[in-house]
Amino acid sequence: MIVSIKEILTKARAGGYAVGAFNTVNLETTRAIVDAAKEMRSPVIIQITEKTMEYAGGRMIYNIVKNDVEFYASEIPVGIHLDHGKSFEIIQHCAQIGFGSVMYDGSRKKYEDNEEATKKVVEFCHEKGIDVQGELGSVLYFGESESREMNWEKYMTDPILAEKFVKDTGIDALAVAIGNAHGFLRERPEPDYERLEKINELCNIPLILHGASDWENGRVAEVIKRGITCFNVDTAIRMAFFDRIINSVKDEEMSFDIRKLLEGAREAVKETVKQKIKYFGSEGKM
Ligand code: G3H
Ligand code: 13P
Ligand code: ZN
Repeated sequence: MIVSIKEILTKARAGGYAVGAFNTVNLETTRAIVDAAKEMRSPVIIQITEKTMEYAGGRMIYNIVKNDVEFYASEIPVGIHLDHGKSFEIIQHCAQIGFGSVMYDGSRKKYEDNEEATKKVVEFCHEKGIDVQGELGSVLYFGESESREMNWEKYMTDPILAEKFVKDTGIDALAVAIGNAHGFLRERPEPDYERLEKINELCNIPLILHGASDWENGRVAEVIKRGITCFNVDTAIRMAFFDRIINSVKDEEMSFDIRKLLEGAREAVKETVKQKIKYFGSEGKM
C-alpha cells in the first residue's frame, strides 16, 4: 500500500533499523524494487528524479509505481518520493501528480537562500500533507569536486547550522553530508561519525544518507546507530541493470525478444535491492 514516508521513517527510527530509498526509471526497475520489497517483507521508498520524469513522463512513472504496488504488493508499505527536486515548480508539479513526499535540494545555494527556498517548499507541501526532505552540506557527484584531494570540511553538514535549518524550515527529514558521495566519486575513507552523532542529537529528525550504493554492512550499522534512517541507492541499480544487459545482449537464447533481455536485467536489479534491504535491516519490518 502507498503510505507516507514520514510513517516509514518514524517506524524505522523507533525500531533501530533503516530503509532503502531506491531510484526507479522505468517499468523494469519499478517491478524489481517492488518484487524485492515483497519477497523481503520490507517497507521501501521508491524515488523518481526530475530527469526520470522528463524521460518517462511524470504522471506515467508515478502511476507505474503506484499501480505496481496496488496491484501486486498491496500489503507492503511503499512511499513514493521525488529525489533531488531543484525548483519550486517541480515541487508544485509533483504535488499535482500526487507525490506524498519530495526532496527539495537547495544544497548548492548559500545557506540563507537554501533556508528560504526550503521553508517556502515546506509551507506549500505541509498544507497538502506532503513530507519534505531538505539537504544541508553537499553530497557531491562525480565531476563536481575540484581536485583529487577532497577538502571534505568544505562540503560536510555543520551540526549547529543543521539544528537551525531544521527548526527554521520545518523539514521532516534531513539529507546529511558526512563524507558520503554520489556515484563513482571516492568517499572519505571513514565517515565522520562524531559529526553525525552531533547532528542527530541536535536535529532529532530522520537523517538520510545519499550516495549509499557502495555502503556495506560495517559502516551501515555504525551510521544507523547514529541516526541514519534511510539510504539512497541509484548507482548500484544502474550497474546491475547494465551488467546483465551487456552480458546477455548477444546471447542467442534471447532471440531478439526484448522481454527476455529486460527480464534478466529486472532480476539482477531485484537481487541487488534484496541485498541492500538485508544490509539496512528492514527485512520483515512491514
Ligand atoms: O542522486 C540521484 C541520482 O543518482 C541522479 O540521477 O540521473 O536521474 O538525475 P538522475
Ligand atoms: P548512489 O549514486 O550512491 O546510488 O546514490 C543515489 C542517491 O543518493 C540518490 O539520491
Ligand atoms: Zn542523492
